[in-house]
Amino acid sequence: IKRIGILTSGGDCAGLNSIIRAVYAHAKGHFGWEVIGIHNGTAGLLARPVEATALDERVAGSDMLRQGGTILGTTNKGDPFAFLQEDGSHIDRSGEVIEGFRLLGLDALIGIGGDGSLDILRRLAIQGGFQLVAIPKTIDNDLGATELSIGFETAVQTATSALDHLQPTAASHSRVMVLEVMGRDAGHIALSAGIAGGADVILIPEIRYSFAAIEKKLADLRKGGRNFALVIVAEAVRTENGQSITSVHGGGATAMQTYGGIGHYIGTELAKRSGAETRVTVLGHVQRGGTPEPKDRVLGSAFGVHAVDLIAEGKFDRMVAWNSRRVIDVPIVDAIKGAATVDPHGTLVKTARGLGISFGD
Ligand code: F6P
Repeated sequence: IKRIGILTSGGDCAGLNSIIRAVYAHAKGHFGWEVIGIHNGTAGLLARPVEATALDERVAGSDMLRQGGTILGTTNKGDPFAFLQEDGSHIDRSGEVIEGFRLLGLDALIGIGGDGSLDILRRLAIQGGFQLVAIPKTIDNDLGATELSIGFETAVQTATSALDHLQPTAASHSRVMVLEVMGRDAGHIALSAGIAGGADVILIPEIRYSFAAIEKKLADLRKGGRNFALVIVAEAVRTENGQSITSVHGGGATAMQTYGGIGHYIGTELAKRSGAETRVTVLGHVQRGGTPEPKDRVLGSAFGVHAVDLIAEGKFDRMVAWNSRRVIDVPIVDAIKGAATVDPHGTLVKTARGLGISFGD
């Protein structure tokens, strides 16, 4: 091994730069390899000339740890196997990406991604016969075979801090505050932030709710002397009758104007049904940026070092993973078998129930 490549793919998150720094520091510092940072995920390999830079202390030094986002850039558009063209049709450009990898003269590639990106990178590696090691990142924490993915801890911190900010104003105005958080198809962010931030109600796609149950919880709180409530809702939560809110949107301009998103749907319906004064906050991409939490920096560093060691040992088609306080590695395919969603009978759901938090069920 003389020269390895590294790219970030899919949605960004906090902690990516600590991985890039760790890969550079260990590969260059310990093994003397050259590390090529590929720009904007696979888009950099599609471009001609290929868009990539040799990493050095200036671009990948330890001060990078502090920065959110990715110094390499990323994209979650342009699956090279079904590349969207301007006229709306799709073509297979995987051969060009593989050619881009060859043009860089790389001996191995470290791909940092979520399930979609890792699936694409793995198919490219198989087709192109190149050596791939993967590192899991996603604020959604929905990759299989790892207890944690980079970005999750910082997203939870941001969502928790939003509840910390909402609580005093909720109490001052006797309001029900609804906070909508990301998570794609999983409720991990809502569940952890809901516990950490003292939510009264946590709504996640893995547990079906009813407004009657939420109203009962709000009434109980009032009876107990509480004048406010905090409700956290994951973006993938559906309407009470199980419809996806995006399909409600698709259902016509009226539904769209009425609700906006699931947070607004919950807030609007709760106000209508219970008479409570509600306010809705949609946290959005604030959860993706920001200064990485120490845990994401530590995990990113551990993942980066282990990924380089895997290359040195000639172990490929593996993903680094966090398991029982240590870094391990698993077949990439085990991580991308489908979204790892919240276990409705798992520890954190039990914890929340133990605290008296309602899931609206
Ligand atoms: O997968 C990460 C994520 O932030 C999800 O939580 C969210 O649904 C989605 O990406 C947003 O994607 P985009 O950045 O394309 O708006």
